[in-house]
This record gives sequence, structure tokens and C-alpha cells, in this order.
Amino acid sequence: MKVIFLFLSFILSTLSQNLTCMYGYDLVMNKCLRYYGSDNQIHSEIYECRLFGGTLVTINNAIENRAVVQYASDQGQDRIWLGSYCFGNTSSSCYNDDYSDSSYSNFAPGNPLVNGSEGSCVSMITKGSHVGRWFSSNCNHNFYSFICQLPTTVDGSKYKSDGKWFENFNNSAYYVVEGSIDEAEIECQKNNGHVVSIHSKQENDFILNRMALVPENVRLGAKRVFNNSYAWADGTLWDFDFRDQLDDMPESLDCLEIFTVHQLWSRTDCDTTASNICKIPLPPIEDNSHCNTTLLMSPSTFTSYGYGMQGLQSPCTWKIVAPGPYQVNLQFLEMRNSSVTVLDASGKLIASVNSTVKVLAESNIVTVVHNGQGTFKASALAF
Ligand SMILES: *[C@@H]1O[C@H](CO)[C@@H](O)[C@H](O)[C@H]1NC(C)=O
Ligand SMILES: *[C@@H]1O[C@H](CO)[C@@H](O)[C@H](O)[C@H]1NC(C)=O
Ligand SMILES: *[C@@H]1O[C@H](CO)[C@@H](O)[C@H](O)[C@H]1NC(C)=O
Ligand SMILES: *[C@@H]1O[C@H](CO)[C@@H](O)[C@H](O)[C@H]1NC(C)=O
Ligand SMILES: *[C@@H]1O[C@H](CO)[C@@H](O)[C@H](O)[C@H]1NC(C)=O
Ligand SMILES: *[C@@H]1O[C@H](CO)[C@@H](O)[C@H](O)[C@H]1NC(C)=O
Ligand SMILES: *[C@@H]1O[C@H](CO)[C@@H](O)[C@H](O)[C@H]1NC(C)=O
Ligand SMILES: *[C@@H]1O[C@H](CO)[C@@H](O)[C@H](O)[C@H]1NC(C)=O
Repeated sequence: MKVIFLFLSFILSTLSQNLTCMYGYDLVMNKCLRYYGSDNQIHSEIYECRLFGGTLVTINNAIENRAVVQYASDQGQDRIWLGSYCFGNTSSSCYNDDYSDSSYSNFAPGNPLVNGSEGSCVSMITKGSHVGRWFSSNCNHNFYSFICQLPTTVDGSKYKSDGKWFENFNNSAYYVVEGSIDEAEIECQKNNGHVVSIHSKQENDFILNRMALVPENVRLGAKRVFNNSYAWADGTLWDFDFRDQLDDMPESLDCLEIFTVHQLWSRTDCDTTASNICKIPLPPIEDNSHCNTTLLMSPSTFTSYGYGMQGLQSPCTWKIVAPGPYQVNLQFLEMRNSSVTVLDASGKLIASVNSTVKVLAESNIVTVVHNGQGTFKASALAF
């Protein structure tokens, strides 16, 4: 085991800084999305979505609404499910599957319409006159398509290929270590991490489905500190609690483990040799370049990849749009040894830019291409 730990430390120190999505997912705005076709396999698809700690796609603002519409219609879909569920006839009675803020909605007039057990689910039209509008739908319909969403994460592909114990979710790396909880904590700290803390249903799903498969239960980094209260080894807040309310393990046990059978946390001994999970925070991404964003809504600012950081460069493409009737107005605020090309929707060259200039497009959609050389900063406005 020692050899493996040294190996992991080495790999962690050579971390890539790229913001990325798990294989098979596309980076759209700040979400990782994956399209699933429509057939009769709703349950297996939702299952696969949850397997990786995902949910159906949720939409938190008008810009995301437009990006998701575009993403879905690019797949040839005219209606998709959203990860939202309504309990009544007002949008304030609707909740997002990922517990994100659900104050934004884009229901068509007369929706949501929840009648008994009908209409609690939400679908969105992605083509035609109601494009972008949300409708109440019967959850049992199985002919709409799915888009599954995961949080973006720092590129973990390098260590994923080196061993199956390493997994990556929401900017942390996770792997299993054997030992007592205190031994595990020492090992985790060698990689600047701690025994795992869990802060969301998705993270619990991720641990359950990606980490706890081989051992049937894994111990968490929680210890009881006072009667019924626990603290995480990494010092984070106890803001998510998935303890089994009917736990029949003895009250004297001070640790918690996650059981694959019922998914809940149950009391366990701290000192026995068992499987524990290390959670290593990965370096934060400061890259605000929006590099390779499928759809960037103006107004916004975009930069060369790794702008403001040392030694990071990558060729990038941005597809920039302005709402309906507007034109895209680009302002190149800084150009350092850099040149970019601006193309219209049909791929025709609008401008080659190597200095601080304005470029006004004729249309509401442009593509900006940078070869990765030098740095630049630009803003996109709707004109
Ligand atoms: C980011 O990704 C690009 C393209 O895949 C690659 O060339 C670059 O080395 C990556 N950056 C880092 C820091 O690994
Ligand atoms: C929503 O409105 C419909 C039609 O008015 C009504 O039948 C239904 O009971 C309402 N649902 C709820 C949850 O109030
Ligand atoms: C509500 O459901 C009942 C029973 O299925 C049905 O008769 C009624 O028309 C529905 N109301 C609305 C507004 O859809
Ligand atoms: C991802 O990490 C952030 C920051 O720690 C946290 O706020 C968020 O809830 C996490 N998302 C999920 C899905 O666990
Ligand atoms: C903690 O548990 C002890 C023994 O069961 C009990 O006497 C005490 O009131 C509890 N304290 C709190 C704050 O619940
Ligand atoms: C952006 O896309 C280009 C072309 O597909 C690719 O070469 C480059 O590595 C990507 N950059 C990043 C940071 O993902
Ligand atoms: C541009 O590149 C040249 C040669 O590589 C370098 O000497 C110069 O400082 C660069 N200029 C800027 C503004 O970075
Ligand atoms: C910038 O572009 C202009 C016009 O396309 C060209 O004449 C000039 O040589 C370019 N400058 C550099 C430094 O590439």
C-alpha cells in the first residue's frame, strides 16, 4: 500500500488545471451535460445519471435556459425533461432535483398545473413557437428525452487511467484506504486531504455508486462529538445528514459508514480495520476564459485560456450569441502577441483582430477563434 500512496502523491502534484467534464459529457456554460435518447428506459437512464452523482438538467436563469434549449435542439430534440418537480399550481411550489435555487422558471401561461398525481414533472419545449417554455407533464410519460447534468470538475483523467481507486467529482479526488479511521486520516493528510465528508445527495450517490461498490460499505470521516452530533474530519459544516433514523447498531459506536443496501449512514466502530475514503480537494480553477463554451450569451467577458495565469495556453473557440433581435458587438480590450478571427454563423470571416478594436457583427451569432498564442481579453455586448 505504501508504494501506492507515494505514487498518488506524485500524481496529485502534477495535476492538470483544466476545467472539464467526465468522459461523454459536454461542457455547456458551467455545467456538464449529456444527452440521452428517448425510449422506454427512463429508470435505467435516471439510474445511470445518478450513478455518477448527477441529476436531470436544472435551469437557474434565462441564459442557462437558452443554452440548454440550444444543446437539446442540436441533438434534434423538441422536448426534454427538466430536473424539477412541482407540488402545486405556482412556480414557488416547484423544486429542483439538485436542490439548487429554484426561483427562476419559464413556465408557459397556465403552468404549472398539478392535478392530483398528474403534472408534477416539468418538460421544456426546445423547438417551434413555444421554444424555451416549461410545461407541467405527467411523470409517467416516457417519450421525452433526458439531459443529465454533473458539476464540472478539475481534469482527473490522468489519475483515472492509473488505478480504479481514484475517482473525481466536483473538484475533489476520492480513493479508498484501508485501516482504522485515524490511520486513514494520516494517509489522507499526506495528500492534503481528509477522510471524506459528504455535503449533498449527489455526493452521497457518487460515493455510493463509484466508491462503495467493491467493499459493500465504506466508513465516512465523521466522529460523534456530543450525544447526537457529529463533526467531519475535514472541519466542514454538518450541513447534510443522511443518517438512518432506524439505525439498529449500538449507540456506543462513534463513527458512521455508508451502506450500499439502503444508502443511509449507520453507526460503526472507529478502530476496526475497514475501507475509508480519502477526499482530496483539487486546486481551484481560476480560469474565466469560457474557453470552448458551446454558447456564450452576451453581455459577457471572455479571455484567452489561462489568462492571468502562468504558462497555460490552449486553442479555444467561443460561440457568442446575443438575444433575438440584437447584433453581437465585440470589444477587444487587450491583445498581447495575440490574434483572433471572428466568423459569422455561416463560417465567413468577419474580422482578423490583432489590436484593441471593436467588431460589430451583422448577426446575433458569431464564432471567435484563438490559436492559443499570446493572451487577450474581450467583451461581448448585445448591440
Ligand atoms: C489543458 O488542456 C490542453 C488541451 O487539452 C492541454 O494542452 C494543456 O496542457 C492542459 N493544461 C494543463 C495545465 O494540463
Ligand atoms: C391546480 O388547478 C387545477 C385546475 O384549476 C385544479 O384542478 C387542481 O386541483 C389544482 N392543483 C392544486 C395542487 O391546487
Ligand atoms: C383533473 O383530474 C380529473 C380526474 O383525472 C379530471 O376529471 C379533470 O378534468 C382534471 N382537471 C384539469 C384541470 O386538468
Ligand atoms: C460542489 O462543491 C461546492 C463547493 O464545495 C458545493 O457548494 C456544492 O454543493 C457541491 N456540489 C455538489 C453537487 O455536491
Ligand atoms: C446527552 O445524553 C445524556 C445521557 O443520555 C443525557 O443525560 C443528556 O441530557 C444529553 N444531552 C443533550 C444535550 O441532549
Ligand atoms: C478547445 O477546443 C480545441 C479544439 O477542439 C482543443 O484543441 C482545445 O484543447 C480545447 N481547449 C480546452 C481548454 O478545452
Ligand atoms: C511578444 O513576444 C515577444 C517575443 O516573444 C516578447 O519579446 C514581447 O515582450 C511580447 N509582448 C508582449 C506584450 O507580451
Ligand atoms: C496586424 O494585422 C494587420 C492587418 O491585418 C497586419 O498588417 C499586421 O502586420 C498585424 N500585426 C501583427 C503584429 O501581426
